[in-house]
Amino acid sequence: MSAENTIDHLLDETRRFAPSPEFAAAAIARPELYEKAEADREGFWAEQSRELLHWHTPFTEVLDWSNPPFAKWFADGELNVAYNCLDRHVEAGNGDRVALLWEGEPGDSRRITYAELTDEVKRLANVLTDLGVGEGDRVALYLPMIPEAVASMLAVARVGAIHSVIFGGFSADSLRSRIDDAGAKLVITADGGWRKGKVSPLKTAVDQALADRGGQGEQATVEHVLVVRRGENEVDWDADRDVWYHDVVPQASAEHEARAFGAESPLFILYTSGTTGKPKGILHTSGGYLTQAAYTHRNVFDLHPETDVYWCTADIGWITGHSYVVYGPLANGATQVLYEGTPEHPEPGRWWDVIEKYGVTIFYTAPTAIRSFMKQGRQIPQARDLSSLRVLGSVGEPINPEAWIWYREVIGAGTTPIVDTWWQTETGAIMVSALPGITETKPGSAQVALPGISIDVVDDAGSPVGNDAGGLLVITEPWPSMLRGIWGDPERYKETYWDKFRDQGYYFAGDGARLDEDGDIWLLGRVDDVMNVSGHRLSTAEIESSLVAHEATAEAAVVGASDETTGQAVVAFVILKENYLKEHGPEGLAQTLRQHVSDQIGAIARPRDIYIVGELPKTRSGKIMRRLLRDVAEGREVGDTTTLADTMVMSTISAQVK
Ligand code: WT7
Repeated sequence: MSAENTIDHLLDETRRFAPSPEFAAAAIARPELYEKAEADREGFWAEQSRELLHWHTPFTEVLDWSNPPFAKWFADGELNVAYNCLDRHVEAGNGDRVALLWEGEPGDSRRITYAELTDEVKRLANVLTDLGVGEGDRVALYLPMIPEAVASMLAVARVGAIHSVIFGGFSADSLRSRIDDAGAKLVITADGGWRKGKVSPLKTAVDQALADRGGQGEQATVEHVLVVRRGENEVDWDADRDVWYHDVVPQASAEHEARAFGAESPLFILYTSGTTGKPKGILHTSGGYLTQAAYTHRNVFDLHPETDVYWCTADIGWITGHSYVVYGPLANGATQVLYEGTPEHPEPGRWWDVIEKYGVTIFYTAPTAIRSFMKQGRQIPQARDLSSLRVLGSVGEPINPEAWIWYREVIGAGTTPIVDTWWQTETGAIMVSALPGITETKPGSAQVALPGISIDVVDDAGSPVGNDAGGLLVITEPWPSMLRGIWGDPERYKETYWDKFRDQGYYFAGDGARLDEDGDIWLLGRVDDVMNVSGHRLSTAEIESSLVAHEATAEAAVVGASDETTGQAVVAFVILKENYLKEHGPEGLAQTLRQHVSDQIGAIARPRDIYIVGELPKTRSGKIMRRLLRDVAEGREVGDTTTLADTMVMSTISAQVK
């Protein structure tokens, strides 16, 4: 083990939560799942795929890894992804089951059954064909969280085209570069969507994205823009290019036969940021992706489709929205909530109102949201009836034990299992997680690789670190929902993910992790968020977790700032809890918190500086942009803030620090 990748400290978390005997007895996932996968990994995936999906042409091959790192799964099989998510449930007699319980931000709502959603998607598929969209064509989606967004993804899939969903919060510029990179033929958007009580003008951004062309060789590939009416706001109209959804979809035929496509047909491209400025178009294909999305959704969330009401709060603009709002849940015939707006509109308890209204049983959200609820205080969720909840999930970043416990106690009535799910845009579906009826959970640990998935923690040379040691998280065997590449850039795909451990053939995830003495996995943040203080490796996540464990702290971000004596020094940005501030005031707190970290982790981790701030700089997906905090901590001009959800945050923080 090389010195660089030893994580020297890890919070000592000893609390354990086993599933109740009742939960375990009724659980979907059984311990045999691990044994089966262990005995014959490929056979296991083949069985899952046959059980969970309908194959128009059954596959005879499972994995083809003859040309690594380009995998093929179930390659000689044929299926239609939309048929799997829609028609087959109707054909099985479940057409009347509700697919979507949609809640608009202004308070309007719609219940859409599987039969109705199938009908809508068939009409829309006919419209796409009329607009010239066919197999392999790219369609860009820039939509709010409305049922038409789900229908659009499925209709694109149904005709064998490829969607590229662009999060509605992205600017016209980002939209344009993504449309151009993929060479989209059609854009589906809306006049506007509701966010925080206002209509965000989506169509206007599309118009700008398609107009701002000057450079040489920039070909406008977009032929049409299909526009859903939602915001009822004024829009400019290009009569040759633009088509109202409501003018064509209801009029289109509801007859549409789902054609079968090869298992490796591309299903979607989803752009994600890498270490360079240019976003990467992560490419996913059909059969393997849908297999793992359905398998993980069913087993990790213990889905009982006849009785559960599932809600994942992610936007469809992110991978979580693809795999756990659209493909996993619909392939499994789930009934789910789809909510258009933000958690605090018209008031902070809106999410809890939605859970109470629809009787949500399975709830999947992000630690950043949980911590912001902690900050507002438990009286808000406690004023609602959340007793329907029975499984809680977390995704996106390490969940600190403090937030984990709060989630379980305050939202889960102290009884619900929590599944902390580790995965990435690139992995397509969950890779590491507890199984709620089996695993004895540890707050803060993502725990174990799912059955069928092979994960390890290795040192810089690729050797396993073994238990009770830290290193780099790798995936050691190909998995069905793995990315098949970066759109248009196979070299970058190899370099980014496979070069580091080329000899071993491991996929390098970019995350630091530690195995505890039981072999359970603790994610420690991106490896570039690992600091080196006086020759000791420290994890930003670990110190953040310690800070947030203090009763005064709502949220914390830690960066390693360069320091003359120690190499790097720990600098923390802390948001305090409103209730605590009211009672105690901020006096002496920075010192108290420094001592607290020192007591919890050791003097080496004691922050050199603690800044009390009101907000942290986050991307639209909720990730803290530590690069910008490092600029502040090192007294530099703050760098590029264009990917922040709120670009004003950095000037506020800089002012507070001064
Ligand atoms: C990165 C992937 C996967 C959907 C949302 C984010 C971090 C994700 C966890 C978790 C610790 C996590 C990792 C990963 N991450 N889930 N449960 N525990 N870290 O997708 O934008 O592709 O980001 O998010 O650092 O590499 P993404």
